[in-house]
Amino acid sequence: MDQLTRREMLAASASVAAGLAASGCSQNGKPVAMFTQAASPVKATPVPLGPDEPLKVGFIGIGGRGRGLLDAFLKLPNQQVVALCDINKENLDKAAAMVEKAQGKAPQTFGKDADDFKNLLDRKDIHAIVTATPCFEHPRIMLATIAAGKHIYGEKPLALTVADADACLAAAEANKDLVVQVGFQWMASPRFQECIERIRRGDIGRLVEGRFFRHNGSSPLIGWFSDRAKSGDWMLEQACHEYNIMNWVAGTTPIKAYGMGWSNLYQDVDPGRNVTDYYAAIIEYPDNFIVHYAHGWISPDGFREFAQKAIGTKGAVELGGDRISRSDGQQIEPLKSPKGDDTAFALKAFVDSIRDGKPAVAPVSYGRNATLLALMVRKAVYERREVTWKEMLRTC
Ligand SMILES: NC(=O)c1ccc[n+]([C@@H]2O[C@H](COP(=O)([O-])OP(=O)(O)OC[C@H]3O[C@@H](n4cnc5c(N)ncnc54)[C@H](O)[C@@H]3O)[C@@H](O)[C@H]2O)c1
Repeated sequence: MDQLTRREMLAASASVAAGLAASGCSQNGKPVAMFTQAASPVKATPVPLGPDEPLKVGFIGIGGRGRGLLDAFLKLPNQQVVALCDINKENLDKAAAMVEKAQGKAPQTFGKDADDFKNLLDRKDIHAIVTATPCFEHPRIMLATIAAGKHIYGEKPLALTVADADACLAAAEANKDLVVQVGFQWMASPRFQECIERIRRGDIGRLVEGRFFRHNGSSPLIGWFSDRAKSGDWMLEQACHEYNIMNWVAGTTPIKAYGMGWSNLYQDVDPGRNVTDYYAAIIEYPDNFIVHYAHGWISPDGFREFAQKAIGTKGAVELGGDRISRSDGQQIEPLKSPKGDDTAFALKAFVDSIRDGKPAVAPVSYGRNATLLALMVRKAVYERREVTWKEMLRTC
């Protein structure tokens, strides 16, 4: 599933080219998606980079995750973080101090308002952007970055609507000489890659069951995270990682999903909260591969758990983990590739792709399909019904 199927690609291009109105993506005549570019995406000229020249990078959004990315990035060779942008002065100052300490020179800073990232993008010497803003900002920053001819490592989810995800995909497809990598760091992990290879070569037989869950603690993140319009709800903000792994394991996109959940457990401590506190979903893939997933913010100490496992007719594998077993008790070659800091692997892969002209290790097609699956599960949970992939392709 490195690329979309031809049918999906055509559907995606048609929806972008035709714009929202023609694809039926409107409510009372008003577009639902915020940042979709109509018609042909911009074809940009990449900022030239010499073989020995330091890669000049700007960071946009340097809160918790952005500073984690910055810390890992500053350890890579032959790079310079020359500019930072954040609308939160405290976060901007903290990140600027990290850069100055690592590089001995303060970066240029931006952040007077939510559009100031565009002034950072105007710097002609910057080759690449790393961005980790709240989710609702992702597509417009990605589209502007690509239009400015800069490579981008953009945090997940790719977007919060089908139309915006398709617009990002179309922009990346029109600019194949730019590396557009989604923040799915597990895809850069040698251990995850080995697990997928072992599934593909038939080590666990035909896929039967996907056993996934993420049980967070009972003090959920608040602020923009608890505002559905900004985060997309946990299906997009958090679980799109798992949805991406499900698609990667299956090697294709799903057929349909069912789900149900609770969304009113923390309103006393977090008024105005409108995200889902707990849900369970069942996702069906072709060839009767059935995945079940539970996800919530209700677990006390001792009950926080996480799993991503694939079970087949001949065995099972723990994705990114240590275990692989055969059902018939036969010996099986152990998993052997390295485990480590997946974020460091992902940023190194991003830089290597830029320098070597290789495709992104976590391409936009995966970001788009994970976004669609997250939206499909969200719709199933909100409406307590079965939702099909075909239906999602007609949705914004
Ligand atoms: N890949 C991962 O494992 C992983 C882990 C955590 C978070 N994330 C993702 O990273 C993103 C950020 O999450 P976080 O936990 O760092 O949130 P955060 O709230 O700590 O940081 C977001 C930062 O973006 C800034 N910001 C908001 N709008 C901006 C704009 N228009 N221009 C510039 N800066 C702007 C905020 O001021 C803030 O400093 C989210 O999309 C989240 O889903 C990914």
